[in-house]
Amino acid sequence: MISESIGVNALGNMTVGGADCVALAKQYATPLYVFDEALIRKNCREFKASIDEYYSGNGMVMYASKAFSCKEMYRIVGSEGLGCDVVSGGELYTALSVGFNPENIMFHGNNKTPEELEYALKSGVGRIIVDNSTELVNIEKIATELNLKANIMLRIKPGVDCHTHDYIRTGQIDSKFGFALENGEAMEIALKAAECKSINLLGFDCHIGSQIFETEPFCDAAVIMLSFMNDFRAKSGITVSELDLGGGFGVKYVETDGALPFKVFMEKVSKALKEASERLNFPIPKIYIEPGRSIVGEAGVTLYTVGAVKTIKDVRTYVAIDGGMADNPRYALYQAEYDIEIANKYTEPKSFIGTVAGKCCESGDLIQENAPMQPPQVGDIMAVLTTGAYNYSMASNYNRLCRPAAVMVNNGESRLIIKRETFEDLIKNDI
Ligand code: LLP
Repeated sequence: MISESIGVNALGNMTVGGADCVALAKQYATPLYVFDEALIRKNCREFKASIDEYYSGNGMVMYASKAFSCKEMYRIVGSEGLGCDVVSGGELYTALSVGFNPENIMFHGNNKTPEELEYALKSGVGRIIVDNSTELVNIEKIATELNLKANIMLRIKPGVDCHTHDYIRTGQIDSKFGFALENGEAMEIALKAAECKSINLLGFDCHIGSQIFETEPFCDAAVIMLSFMNDFRAKSGITVSELDLGGGFGVKYVETDGALPFKVFMEKVSKALKEASERLNFPIPKIYIEPGRSIVGEAGVTLYTVGAVKTIKDVRTYVAIDGGMADNPRYALYQAEYDIEIANKYTEPKSFIGTVAGKCCESGDLIQENAPMQPPQVGDIMAVLTTGAYNYSMASNYNRLCRPAAVMVNNGESRLIIKRETFEDLIKNDI
């Protein structure tokens, strides 16, 4: 089973969180993002319970909201006691607009503008994760002007490589994010930060990449980071007390993805950290983790209507849908794999192989190539699974397509959480 949110009802239709996908498509039209609130909340609780268990309450889960940022998501994760990570003034604004506690917000990003930094500092965000030396200078300046002390952590590249798509690997030296350990720049900036009058250096942060299934790179990164904290103590006399291990836990897109329960990640990483802490005689810091995809990925499904089926003899069959790369650019960007279902034929065998083509004027606008599915016909409702993370958040208006609506389902009941864009929305900023 790809996701526990998926089921089937007496009509033989696919369900998400107990709601009939065919009925949802009828009620809200397509394309439609559908999210299962029960699974999102369950994931939040499991992360929280395991960090509490393995770090005796001295840990915090920060939802990486780039995965799916909208008001309702901040309400849900906030109500579950999670903090969040934001990467732009826009995400910060959305979180604050629903009363998200600014103390529980971390501000990430590799090129925060001075305006964004000022906004974050004035709003009282809990931590700014500093990515480069210009940013450190800017924060010191703005915090001094505002007469406050900025709580920061430094983003470090631990030099750990992991097996995932090149575009979502971030822990190696050749990455645009953070300071490298190997060449001494991490230590240099840490010593500099410690001397800033208006800056409070609380600790260090790393994020090695995304959609990772192996536990070793996480354990390696954690131990390398703790050793760095120990080296920093030796050089500066300062024992920083916080370590952010980032996100990146893999989720199941297709049956062959062998998703590990994140409890296992947590257990192994905490064991590695405890061993290192004893060896180095360095106290276990407060631990943050930043799961994004693993909170919301499997809880989301996108529904489309099949508009045409075009067979090119001896080549392949294209199944054209009413969305595509504008609402899900992940196949075009990363050749991401997906499970495709025809929601109104869910119980039928997948005897058909089709290439799912979007509406954009672009040959690469595909959702999946040569994928098994139930035989599609014009008017059928196609469901693309595990589209909760990085789909709505990476959607565009290419070809002036309207961004789809999103609904949250809970125990069979649905509610609109993001309205479908209209043609008027498309021209509202045109002059
Ligand atoms: N923390 C930091 C600093 C990050 O950069 C990211 C993701 C996360 C946490 C959350 O990672 P997650 O748990 O979601 O794997 N658009 C790509 C993914 C880009 C990930 C960017 N950073 C995709 O669709 O696969």
